[in-house]
Formats: sequence, C-alpha cells, structure tokens
Amino acid sequence: MRTQVCIIGGGPSGLLLSQLLHRKGIDTIVLERKTRDYVLGRIRAGILEVGFTDLMREAGVGARMDAEGFKHDGTVIAYGEEEFGVSFHEHTGTDVLVYGQTELTRDLYDAREAEGGNLVFNVENVKIHDAKGAAPYVTYQVDGGEHRIDCDYVAGCDGFHGVSRQTIPLTVRREYEKLYPFGWLGVLSETPPVHDELIYSWSERGFALCSMRNANLSRYYIQCSLSDAPQDWSDEAFWSELKRRIPSRYADALVTGPSIEKSIAPLRSFVTEPMRWGRLFLCGDAAHIVPPTGAKGLNTAASDIHYLYHGLMQFYQDGDSTGLDAYSEKALARVWKAERFSWTTTNLLHRYPDQSEFDLKMQRADIDFLRSNVAAQKVFAENYVGLPY
Ligand code: FAD
Ligand code: DHB
Repeated sequence: MRTQVCIIGGGPSGLLLSQLLHRKGIDTIVLERKTRDYVLGRIRAGILEVGFTDLMREAGVGARMDAEGFKHDGTVIAYGEEEFGVSFHEHTGTDVLVYGQTELTRDLYDAREAEGGNLVFNVENVKIHDAKGAAPYVTYQVDGGEHRIDCDYVAGCDGFHGVSRQTIPLTVRREYEKLYPFGWLGVLSETPPVHDELIYSWSERGFALCSMRNANLSRYYIQCSLSDAPQDWSDEAFWSELKRRIPSRYADALVTGPSIEKSIAPLRSFVTEPMRWGRLFLCGDAAHIVPPTGAKGLNTAASDIHYLYHGLMQFYQDGDSTGLDAYSEKALARVWKAERFSWTTTNLLHRYPDQSEFDLKMQRADIDFLRSNVAAQKVFAENYVGLPY
C-alpha cells in the first residue's frame, strides 16, 4: 500500500490529524493496535480548550460537540472549608468546553468511517523503517499476515507506550521525566454533578476533583496511593473519602450512586526532544505526558496536531517545508508551558508524603495569593483556557 501520511495510533491525536488532512485532500492510513470499542471504552479527559474545539470544527466534526458540550466560564478552587472562584471569562474573554474524550473520539471515528477513511485495527508489530531517508515505510501484521505501507511521512500518534518514540535513536532522543508519589482514582457515575462548575479541592487528606460529563453523568477523582488498585476501593469507600475532601456544603449536596467506571492513573511529567526525526513526527502522548491537574493532556496533543497539520498542508499545497522544519521547536515551546502549568497546579493542590510544615505553609500562601490577587488569577485562567497556538 502507499499513502501520503502513515499515522500510527487511532487515539484522538491520530484520528484528528487524519480527518483534518482528509479534508484537504491529503491521503492517510491510520494503524491502531486495539479495536474501536476498546479505544472508546477508555474514560479519560473531559475539558477542551478553544484551540481544540476550533480544530474539531475545522475537521467538520464539531456539530455534536457544539450541541452537547457545556461551556464553563470558571472553576472553583477549595482549601478545606474555604473556596473561591476563578473566572475564565472575566480574565481571558473565553471559556472551556466540557465534552468527553470518548465522545470526541467517537465523532472522529464516525466521520472517518463515513468518509471512507482507511483505518486498520488490531495491528501488531508495527515498525517504522528509513525514517531518516527519503522513502520511509511502515510494516505491521494483522491476523498473522505481513503488510507494508510506503509513505512520505509518518505521524507517531501512538501514545506513551507506542513504538514511534522508541524508533528515534537514543543518541538523538533526550527524555525528561518526573514521577509523582501518588495517583488519581477516578469514578464515573450516572448522578447529577455536585456543582455547575468543576471543583479543584485541596484537603488535609489529599486532593479531590469534582468534574462532569453531562447533567446526569459525573466524573470524580481523588488522590490515592500508588500501591492502591481500583478493586481496593468499594463505591462506598470512594464516596465517603470524596466527601471528606471537599467543603461540607458540597459534601452534603453530593448525590452518590453506583460507579460505572473506576480506574487509577499514576501521575507523570514527561517530555521527549526532539519531536521530529527525519520524516517521523511525534504527536500527543507519544511525545509528552502531563499530570492531569489542569486538564492539559489532550489539549496539548491538539496543539501538536495543529502545528503538524499546518506544516503538512504547506508542504503539499505549496511545496514549502518550513512549517515541517519548525514543527519540533514550535510544538515543544507550547508543550513546556503546559508542563509547567500542570506541574505547578499539581504541586499547589496535592499532599506529598514528605511535606514539611514549611511546605504546607507555602501551599497555603500560594492558594491565598491566587484567591486575593487578580494578576495571579489571570495567569491561572490564561493557562487553563489554553495558551495561544
Ligand atoms: P492515546 O489516547 O494514548 O492514543 C494512542 C493510540 O495509539 C491508542 O489508541 C493506542 O492503542 C495506539 N497504539 C499504541 N501503540 C501502538 C502501536 N504500536 N501501534 C498502533 N497503535 C498503537 N488528559 C486530560 O486532559 N484529562 C484527564 O482526565 C486525563 N485522564 C487520563 C487518564 C489516563 C489513564 C490516561 C492514560 C491519560 C489521561 N489523560 C487525561 C491524558 C489524555 O487522555 C491523553 O493526553 C490523550 O489520550 C492523548 O491522545 P493521543 O491520541 O496522543 O494518545
Ligand atoms: C477532568 C480531568 C482533569 O484532569 C481535569 O483537570 C479536569 C477535568 C475530567 O476528566 O473531567
């Protein structure tokens, strides 16, 4: 087979790139290791920046998102029993959209399939060859059969555990990583959200987040130990711990119910440099991971796709490769700022096992400063709604 851009990974990054390029007449093949149902079963992000929603519209897949997503023009930050709001609208003139990763991935799959997109599922043993040369190709197996795709470019959109990043030799690749001594236990439940805005809550017992998907679907998270497993937490234990970590007026109003999904994610900051090696471009989680505090993971994947999409368009429409040549540098400049925001927001709101009394006072002072200082709120809001592309 031959295509212009071979995309490895059928998560949100790979699908969005494929759909955007398709609309500009650029041919792609998407190789996905799992099944469509498996990808759609992964409950992950829920908050979209304006840059992301604009790309979805440009890809022609914004209709359901615009009809069913919820605009949020601010958030609540709590500290014990205290709380305050940060308005996104007031400080930035814009807002974010609550629309689940599962839903936007479904919209992208539906569009790719309706428009005859070439998506190959259940691929195994994907290998990228000659990425540094003029004629790269990708080999893989499906049901034991060997296949080969010749292409102009390879987009590595295969997440943190994919093969694309590993293809870049260690003599070229530099990785930066920070692991956090805790994880997030997430629960999805068919209950009304406790509040109409998200609540990011610092507590003596650890961080908690109250989020949502729609009027009868709530998403809650609590900071947990890295040694915990989801089955260690009964629904009752989860609800009781969540109530102890949010201000009592919310705890009293919280509607609980059976969990329909429960999972634990470890927290990690990670960046690979460079994000381009020859004709291979890394996008999204294949190149970087943020801790989820601040909802930057999926949104940072979207800004990579924006830069790569524009670079490829410039190349195929005008024969100009300057956008592709600048891809790694441009993407990384924004990635590092998202890393910074996610890291500071994680540090601001979590309990660390080795925290001293001094560290706790610093956290308290940081939160007080954010509550009382308009400039600090503006900085928070600008980062939360997403820095410009
Ligand atoms: P992925 O979604 O990881 O997609 C990569 C795809 O590539 C997958 O479908 C995978 O099956 C496929 N693949 C992997 N290896 C291969 C291979 N060798 N060959 C072919 N295909 C391959 N972000 C937030 O903003 N908020 C959150 O609450 C949040 N929660 C998260 C919870 C978890 C458990 C995880 C792991 C991430 C979470 N994120 C969150 C981050 C967000 O979901 C990711 O940033 C986003 O999914 C990145 O999209 P992606 O397409 O780059 O990667
Ligand atoms: C969600 C996840 C986040 O990490 C976040 O900061 C906000 C919302 C969510 O899954 O709804």
